[in-house]
Amino acid sequence: MSGITTPARRGLDGVVAAQTRLSHVDGLAGELIIGGYELKELAGRVTFEEAAHLLWRGALPGPEPLLALRREMASQRALPEETLQVVRASRTAPPIDALRMACATLSLDMADPNDISPQADLGDAQMLTARFPSIVAAHARLSAGLEPIAPRADLSHAANFLYMVHGKEPDPIAARALDTYWVTVIDHGMNASTFAARVIASTRSDMVSAVTGAVGALKGPLHGGAPGPVLDMLVEIGAAEKAEGWLKRELAAGERIMGFGHRVYKVRDPRAEVLSKVADEMSAAHLEDRRLFDLARAVEQIALRVLEEEKPGRNLKTNVEFYTALVLQSLGLKPRSFVAMFACGRVAGWCAHVIEQHAEDHLIRPQSEYVGPRGLKTG
Ligand code: COA
Repeated sequence: MSGITTPARRGLDGVVAAQTRLSHVDGLAGELIIGGYELKELAGRVTFEEAAHLLWRGALPGPEPLLALRREMASQRALPEETLQVVRASRTAPPIDALRMACATLSLDMADPNDISPQADLGDAQMLTARFPSIVAAHARLSAGLEPIAPRADLSHAANFLYMVHGKEPDPIAARALDTYWVTVIDHGMNASTFAARVIASTRSDMVSAVTGAVGALKGPLHGGAPGPVLDMLVEIGAAEKAEGWLKRELAAGERIMGFGHRVYKVRDPRAEVLSKVADEMSAAHLEDRRLFDLARAVEQIALRVLEEEKPGRNLKTNVEFYTALVLQSLGLKPRSFVAMFACGRVAGWCAHVIEQHAEDHLIRPQSEYVGPRGLKTG
């Protein structure tokens, strides 16, 4: 049967596209479940490597499997020369574009890039997740006119990234903040980039291809590209007393307020809750960060009120990107790299979905509703 049986739903809103054991978003309760655990059970309590193991293998690891995973991922951090060349060539491009281009090269040193067996998929997941931060760190240095720094295998995933960017071992609080950020964004139901990855994997295409497509989907400002603009907004507003006028002017001009609203959450995004605490902790030591954090908290409250007044009934609440901006900038990272930082966390989730989709082995192929003309003649 090929006829249209149901009317098109704009943006597939509310359509269930797959069954998954990986994560669940309850937008009314403000709940995010990752591999059976509520986000607040995981964030700040398990490391990113443990959360990745949970998604890839279905359970949190005991001490020995965790050590093995850490060792294997640490041994894969170094980038192949071809990948580094692409990062060099793209040093003036936005980091997320450099990441997309470099990601596509990561199949070059694989024994069989088209092997999509469960064992090969697990290896690819570890490799991609291990190397994403190396790409972003190398790009950050090259775009600042500096040479990339080789990874260190004795540091955790998050600590090594900060070391590769800044050239010195990070403060443990900073490494923990980044680790918590990456756990917080590791997976999030059938979001656009995850869906893109699953669609690609459903054709029996390989993991590197699926993840490269997902990076492209994450880039847009309606998905992962919002935290940079959140920081710009806070800087432009400058002081809490100017927030209301600024926000109203933006809305009157038809602009969206970055860091607010969500397709699924109609209450505060639980990830915003976790990250506002991380941002609070990170800003304790630096006066400038504290000033920005206090401003962000004030702007959040005013924005929620203004959005309710100007867009009543739309339930536009704080989303994950709002406090992401503060956490990442307190780690000394540039706003242009924020979406690539998001990708470094989400890549573990994308890979888990690819593993799940390959096991499902069913082509995702929706229909479209033709609304164009019919019966046109050429002559
Ligand atoms: N600021 C102002 N208005 C917003 C808004 C925002 N951040 N988000 C949604 N709206 C408004 C829309 O203009 C629309 O208004 P209308 O009914 O008057 O036309 C209404 O709310 C519904 O918008 P819609 O685009 O259908 O909702 P959506 O569920 O598709 O949008 C987002 C979800 C995330 C794309 C949207 O909220 C957004 O653009 N947010 C800002 C970007 C952002 O923070 N992205 C990160 C997401 S984690």
